[in-house]
Amino acid sequence: MRLLVLGGSWFVGRVLVAEAVQRGHDVTVFNRGASPAHLPSAVRHVRGDRELIDDVRALARCGPWDVVVDVAGSVPAVVRRSVEILADVAQRCVFVSTISAYRDWPHAPVDEDSALWDGDPDFDPGTRRWDPDAYGPLKVGCEIASRDAFGPERLLVLRPHVVLGPHEYVGRLPWWLTRMRRGGPVLAPAPDRGIQPVDVRDLTGFLLDQAEWRGTGVFNVAPPATRATYGDMLRSCIEVTADVAERSARLVWVDECWLVEQGVTQWTELPLWRSAAAPWGMNADRARRAGLRCRPLAETVADTWTWLCEGGRPVTHERFAEHGIAPEREASLIARWLAEHPRQSDGASEPAPSRTPG
Ligand SMILES: NC(=O)c1ccc[n+]([C@@H]2O[C@H](COP(=O)([O-])OP(=O)(O)OC[C@H]3O[C@@H](n4cnc5c(N)ncnc54)[C@H](OP(=O)(O)O)[C@@H]3O)[C@@H](O)[C@H]2O)c1
Repeated sequence: MRLLVLGGSWFVGRVLVAEAVQRGHDVTVFNRGASPAHLPSAVRHVRGDRELIDDVRALARCGPWDVVVDVAGSVPAVVRRSVEILADVAQRCVFVSTISAYRDWPHAPVDEDSALWDGDPDFDPGTRRWDPDAYGPLKVGCEIASRDAFGPERLLVLRPHVVLGPHEYVGRLPWWLTRMRRGGPVLAPAPDRGIQPVDVRDLTGFLLDQAEWRGTGVFNVAPPATRATYGDMLRSCIEVTADVAERSARLVWVDECWLVEQGVTQWTELPLWRSAAAPWGMNADRARRAGLRCRPLAETVADTWTWLCEGGRPVTHERFAEHGIAPEREASLIARWLAEHPRQSDGASEPAPSRTPG
């Protein structure tokens, strides 16, 4: 298969390119070269900026392709301009969207028929593209632009939940792993909440399977939320870092509502924690029926730690710094919680009394 990957050098795209080459596909990668590429030698690398129409026209002259995979689309107007050109030189398109496309996420469970944000396929938000409030509607706009250019019979849209695994530059799981390595009392919410981050290798494997099988339509991509809990993830982080930990880590379970009252920033100060009713309510049965297989979360945790130990973190990205609570703030919150719940101070693993979060 002749594959064009728009993006391809940070995380999802990078892992996708490596897997595609391993499967024997003929891969072209298009990006600006602003991030370190580490591309396999078999890959044809076309440098250019998709925001510049001449660069996209020059790229199109390197075609044709069977499939263009867009892992770098976040601005509808930019996606529109590039797919209008590429639809003439690629038979099909795979657009990597996100769970944030759903209007009700994270407040209600979502499947592929759930309501989406209104998206404008011509919209360019300027610098607001990574604004969490703008991100969902922007990705919907990108989906629409891709559908307008390729038509539904030539388009596959994947909406993954949070993606973790080796090469995760966003810094969510890497933060938890390095936190556990530091050890000591660890502020820890929601031990029993089922969670469903998807391993980047399972996402890219499914994407390539679908591309090879000429899949079209829309698929959510996530493991079932019943397979692992937030507590399982944190315990796995402790387990894999134990040998090199500065001191042993002890989870101090605190009530989610109490954390909200303390003003702890959800999703970033405690990565992957969100107190809403259904942050992990993605139904991905359609993808499972179509062949999606998700490895255990413990394997993702272990392999991400191995990658970090081997000198991982391939790019310096501003989003990495967003993640993690400051050590002094964590210590002061733990002290306050233990003062209010003295039975937990003696090291007992008593779960936090929990109230239902809103
Ligand atoms: N991470 C998650 O948890 C998550 C969850 C759900 C969905 N997603 C989606 O998954 C995709 C993942 O992307 P990723 O960051 O892992 O992908 P990636 O393909 O590994 O990295 C983004 C790529 O886009 C390129 N790029 C950025 N701006 C460009 C431009 N103007 N012209 C050409 N190339 C450009 C970058 O290279 P240069 O900088 O060198 O140009 C880089 O190669 C995104 O679409 C995201 O919305 C992610």
